[in-house]
Amino acid sequence: MCGIIGFVGSERPLGGMLLEGLRRLEYRGYDSWGVAVGQNGSIKVAKKAGRIIATDPELPEATIGFGHTRWATHGGVTDQNAHPHVDCTGRFAVIHNGIIENFRKLRQHLLDSGHEFQSETDSEVIAHLIEQAVGDNQDVDAVVAAVRSVFEQMRGLNAFIVLDNHTRHLFAVKNVSPLVLGRSDGGSHIASDALALVDHVDQIHFVEDGQVAVIGPGKIQLVNQETGDPETLDWRPMTLTAVDTGLHGYPHFMIKEISEQPEVIRRIVTDEIEPVRGLAELIRASYGTFLVGSGTSSYAALSGSYLFSRIARRHVNFTVGSEFKYQEHFLTDKSLVVALSQSGETADVIEAVMAAQERGAKIAALVNVPGSTLDRMADYSVHLNAGPEQCVLSTKAYVAKVAVLLLAAHILNGSEHAGREILWQSVDGIEQLLSPIASDHIRAVAAQIVDQDHCYIIGRGLSYPTALESALKIKEVSYIHAEGFAGGELKHGVIALIDKGTPAIVFSPLDETRDDILSGAMEMKSRGAVIIGVSPENDEVFDIHVPVADVGDGSPIVNVVPAQLLGYQLALMRDLDPDKPRNLAKSVTVK
Ligand code: F6R
Repeated sequence: MCGIIGFVGSERPLGGMLLEGLRRLEYRGYDSWGVAVGQNGSIKVAKKAGRIIATDPELPEATIGFGHTRWATHGGVTDQNAHPHVDCTGRFAVIHNGIIENFRKLRQHLLDSGHEFQSETDSEVIAHLIEQAVGDNQDVDAVVAAVRSVFEQMRGLNAFIVLDNHTRHLFAVKNVSPLVLGRSDGGSHIASDALALVDHVDQIHFVEDGQVAVIGPGKIQLVNQETGDPETLDWRPMTLTAVDTGLHGYPHFMIKEISEQPEVIRRIVTDEIEPVRGLAELIRASYGTFLVGSGTSSYAALSGSYLFSRIARRHVNFTVGSEFKYQEHFLTDKSLVVALSQSGETADVIEAVMAAQERGAKIAALVNVPGSTLDRMADYSVHLNAGPEQCVLSTKAYVAKVAVLLLAAHILNGSEHAGREILWQSVDGIEQLLSPIASDHIRAVAAQIVDQDHCYIIGRGLSYPTALESALKIKEVSYIHAEGFAGGELKHGVIALIDKGTPAIVFSPLDETRDDILSGAMEMKSRGAVIIGVSPENDEVFDIHVPVADVGDGSPIVNVVPAQLLGYQLALMRDLDPDKPRNLAKSVTVK
């Protein structure tokens, strides 16, 4: 989380580059933002709580500066806690991404030495530690040594940049949190995502853990954080082009991205077959495959474990990213870990992959962002090719991941053709749900439940992960408490939550789960629930029927769409921004 961008030019001033970059990085956090520019003799800082999109700050012209968009970890969302943070002398400014796990001890030590803090953040300790370590030294080498020793003292997954207004350099270092360097005729750049550098740089270098970048006008150097030895920059051409960030007539990115789902699946069937075949072969060759992801990606992974069992008769394990390290003890060098991640930057999943690599396991990644950390860490990658997700909620990348896993399961089973056929049917099934009539129906359902505090969602078998993902979509965008359950769990406690008028969404595809799930629905209805049945066929237990196409094992791909649409409509009716729900960030780079 948190977006970082910086620039040092020889003559070229910053212009609007920092603010433009920050707007592109806003998906990484939008609690607050800030910029600092180095002028003759002083650092000018502008920072504020709230979204940068709503502001157009006037910045003095300068040739060195950096900016930050924050997702708060330590310290509330206030102007003071926004980055950058400046040391006591005003020589250094710092921006930071990550969590300094031992910051309390470091802060106390600095307070005892007479440093004064302006914020409640963990990040501010970096500015004071650098000040203390550099002392009166004026040269670049002294600051490099300070950055190395300060980073050594910090625990956790962190990246930071120091702006030194005396040497007119930026200094950057990282552990897991991503940083990318860029160069152009006009100067030297750094950002937490190459996206922020599009149109400004010709070449990029991904900073590796343990490298300190020393960024001056027209010159970037790397040194090893532990030894101080120079390291080689691996410049590669910048291949990203300006992403199409337009809404193209849609009112929000959420509905635009939901509407793109048929095209996303079409692309997988037509363009991604070879990479998916490669994935299937890796799974075939492994002695134990583990699907790992967080949030929505974890539900795609869980869907995958059902699909592999059902279609390929293969046990493929599933673990939530943050739990993986507690379960990795039986991995060997014959195991395969498949990391699922839209962003490719999720810290919990990266940590899982690092743990697996230590045990010699092979890593495959299903990512939507080429060049992301997980993409680069993996031995083998399948790119989802879903196009940028700009809404903070994940929609199209979810269906893309499930589609890839379904296809891989069919390839393993020797039934690739049948897998492709299911995906084509799923394309049609989603298109039906996007029709004006179906959309009006979902809007009417939303109007009926918009004032409820709770919503429960059940599914069995393949529909169980769909129930979990549907609940996440509804709650994170509408703030209505929604909970997904395995249908069989109802009578083991969940049914106590059902009250008169409680909406209960029931996934009832025409598969072996139908009879049992309908009897669960009946049990809820008897206790006053309003049953919303998502099913190809109506049933007397449904108070409201949401018709969906019968697409067999493609049901996890199609049936999640009514929930995505319902969440979207509920957000609109509750006057909420569906693209930027409170407290969330698109790229979760802290643990
Ligand atoms: C929910 C959502 C999150 C992400 C999760 C993992 O709509 O977007 O739950 O799925 O933070 O992100 P990725 O897939 O980028 O690893």
